[in-house]
Amino acid sequence: MGICWSNKIKAETTPSNTGVSSKYVSRDANSLSGGSRASSSSVPPTPRTEGEILQSSDVKNFTFNELKLATRNFRPDSVLGEGGFGSVFKAWIDEQTLAAAKPGSGMIVAVKKLNHEGLQGHREWLAEINYLGQFHHPHLVKLIGFCLEDEHRLLVYEFMSRGSMENHLFRRGTYFQPLSWSLRMKVALGAAKGLAFLHAAEPQVIYRDFKTSNILLDVSYNAKLSDFGLARDGPTGEKSHVTTRVMGTYGYAAPEYLGTGHLTAKSDVYSFGVVLLEILSGQRAIDKNRPMGQHNLVEWAKPYLTNKRRVFRIIDNRLEGQYSHEQAQKAAGLALQCIALEPRVRPNMDEIVEALKELQDTRGMRGKDRRSSGDPVPVAPPKSPCKSSAAAENGANYPRPSASPLYM
Ligand SMILES: Nc1ncnc2c1ncn2[C@@H]1O[C@H](COP(=O)(O)OP(=O)(O)OP(=O)(O)O)[C@@H](O)[C@H]1O
Ligand SMILES: [Mg+2]
Repeated sequence: MGICWSNKIKAETTPSNTGVSSKYVSRDANSLSGGSRASSSSVPPTPRTEGEILQSSDVKNFTFNELKLATRNFRPDSVLGEGGFGSVFKAWIDEQTLAAAKPGSGMIVAVKKLNHEGLQGHREWLAEINYLGQFHHPHLVKLIGFCLEDEHRLLVYEFMSRGSMENHLFRRGTYFQPLSWSLRMKVALGAAKGLAFLHAAEPQVIYRDFKTSNILLDVSYNAKLSDFGLARDGPTGEKSHVTTRVMGTYGYAAPEYLGTGHLTAKSDVYSFGVVLLEILSGQRAIDKNRPMGQHNLVEWAKPYLTNKRRVFRIIDNRLEGQYSHEQAQKAAGLALQCIALEPRVRPNMDEIVEALKELQDTRGMRGKDRRSSGDPVPVAPPKSPCKSSAAAENGANYPRPSASPLYM
């Protein structure tokens, strides 16, 4: 599991220093709790203090005992997955009263339990309630409630029965058959709509941790963004950016943000480009199991993305015959625009949503493609030079041993 863990390690750096720490610690200048947020006086609708956040959010305040009952005492066999925050458990609650219910009755929910103490864990827990307690959107995961009791901090979400996009793209096994081209495009569009919604909010919200493990899928593969622990308000007034300590995940964070700590909505756009590349290639943003020179997906893929003929070399072999030349080129071209080094050159999320809408209808595109260019639909694109290692193919190096293979 070693190699891929590094992907999940949060970047905790000062703007001038890009060292890696395994600690999930933020040192944001503008923390959510306390008075520092009061400096953003132009954002009145957003709660400022912990009390205001907890009181104003439209979610239930659970007792620890209720969640203990609902998860059957946090049984290890009901763990859905694990992240930097802690473990996520499957639980049952009554649909009407939201009280703990017997397994198999009522409504399934996902309970995230913070497994370490400290200010940072608390800040992220609070940020999640601050944003998800206010926002309701078809492409944001629904927060049902929270628990704050003694040292216990938990969050209760709607259950996303197909788990994370990360599992679908990178996990091998009977339960994780390769996602088709059209489902991948559907997920990309859904996630883009979630980000577009946040960027259009007043004040704008920058998500800051866009990656495949934070894209959750419902039974119909509708994508919803989860994990708002690192989200923060974007610049207001004349300001072009907000300055923060660098947080996020290596491989996804925009280079200018890593270098300067200057955060804009275009930082999310860069991360979106990395995710789109992962979706197209079926390869992780960073994977040290790949041959030398291919560890970093962006660096490896860029030369292929700029060449219309070679672009197929980065498309997942498992998608053979499912897409047209035109679709592959458009999707790859979009990813390339998103990962542009110059943030201003990157498209905004609304433009990305529009571009992805055009990529939704596979059959329509194929017909159009044949008519307009006469190009045949590729049946067997050349093998990717970045083919997964045998270990990756059989799942031996999957980094999340606790993740449940089936979420149904
Ligand atoms: N609402 C949910 N419904 C179903 N499964 C979920 C839900 N929330 C999380 N999970 C599962 O739990 C896993 C862990 O989620 P979590 O958000 O704690 O960490 P992560 O996003 O994987 O990693 P990181 O902490 O680095 O962001 C997810 O990848 C997913 O498989
Ligand atoms: Mg997550």
